[in-house]
Formats: sequence, C-alpha cells, structure tokens
Amino acid sequence: MIIREFKRQDIKRVLEIELTSFNDPYPANVLVDIYNLGAGFLVAQQDNMVVGYIIFWIRFENDGHIISIAVDKKYQRKKIGTQLVETAQEIFKKYNVKNIRLEVRKGNHAARKFYRNMGFVERTPVINYYEDGEDAVIMDKFLEFEEGEVQNKSEKT
Ligand SMILES: CC(C)(COP(=O)(O)OP(=O)(O)OC[C@H]1O[C@@H](n2cnc3c(N)ncnc32)[C@H](O)[C@@H]1OP(=O)(O)O)[C@@H](O)C(=O)NCCC(=O)NCCS
Repeated sequence: MIIREFKRQDIKRVLEIELTSFNDPYPANVLVDIYNLGAGFLVAQQDNMVVGYIIFWIRFENDGHIISIAVDKKYQRKKIGTQLVETAQEIFKKYNVKNIRLEVRKGNHAARKFYRNMGFVERTPVINYYEDGEDAVIMDKFLEFEEGEVQNKSEKT
C-alpha cells in the first residue's frame, strides 16, 4: 500500500468510495473545487487502485481541519485510514499546525472510535449540525512536536 498525492484521474475512484461511504456524499465538482482551492488531498493505493483518501486543509493559521476521509469497505480494518491520518498529520506539522479538528456524525460510532484510537478527543456536540438534523461531535487533537521538529517561529524567538 502506498500513500500519494491525489491526481485528477483518481476522481472516479474517489467518488465511488465517497458514494458508498456517506449518505450525503460530496459531488465530484465539490471535491475537485476543494482540491483546486489548495486543500491537502492524499490517496491510498493498493492492488493498483485507489482504496482510500483523505482531504484536509489549514483553516486558520495553526488550525488543521480534516474535511473527509474514507476507505473502500473491502479494504477497511487494515490500518489504511490510520496511515492516511498519520500522513496528513506529518504534513500539518510541516505547516506548523498545532491542532487538528473535525466533525463527525454522532451516530458514526465506528469513525468516532477510529479517531479516539488516533488520539482525538471528543468535544461538546453541535446540535442539528447536519442537514438531516443529526448532531455532530467535534473532535480535536493537539499535535505534539518532538525534539528537533520544526516549530512555529514565534515559539523559537
Ligand atoms: C473511519 C474509516 C476511515 C476507518 O478506516 P480503516 O482503514 O478501516 O481504519 P483502521 O484500519 O486504520 O482502524 C484503526 C482502528 O480504528 C477503529 N475502527 C476502525 N473501524 C472501525 C469499525 N468499523 N468499528 C469499530 N472500530 C473501528 C479500531 O480500533 C481499529 O483498530 P483495529 O482494527 O485494530 O481494531 C473507515 O471506517 C471509513 O471509511 N468509514 C466510512 C467513512 C467515514 O465514516 N469517514 C469518517 C467521517 S468523519
């Protein structure tokens, strides 16, 4: 399995995974627009095809945001999601992101467990966050920098 940057020709597979993963999938044009706006977009490739992806961006100066992540059902529970988040985390660190935040449906217990497993902490739910009225759980993770890793200039001076 390799993790690499999204290429335009990946959109068909990404969309297939998106459509089978979410009841309210992003349409293809929105995914491409987000990419064109400069979001991070990584795909996991195995057996010569895209089997998962993660989209993320820096919302404010030191605040990272995971917009979407999904792994093809046939390839789940093989730590592909974990590796996608870990790779995004490394990129965030390079941009001095201190905190990663995301929203997850309250009823998406699998994803909530997945994120908790990765060190994300659940915050107060946001009532009626989704169009269908479901609440969102905000989760975040403070990124710890190890000795020798790049730090925000303001902390160095
Ligand atoms: C959430 C998702 C990306 C996880 O991807 P994955 O590659 O299967 O996850 P991993 O194999 O890295 O899982 C790591 C750990 O997370 C937890 N986990 C992952 N999926 C789980 C599930 N369905 N049920 C319970 N725990 C789960 C487990 O602790 C797992 O470790 P284990 O397999 O050793 O028990 C995947 O389930 C998915 O695409 N879901 C549909 C889309 C979605 O809900 N995205 C998140 C929206 S915010």
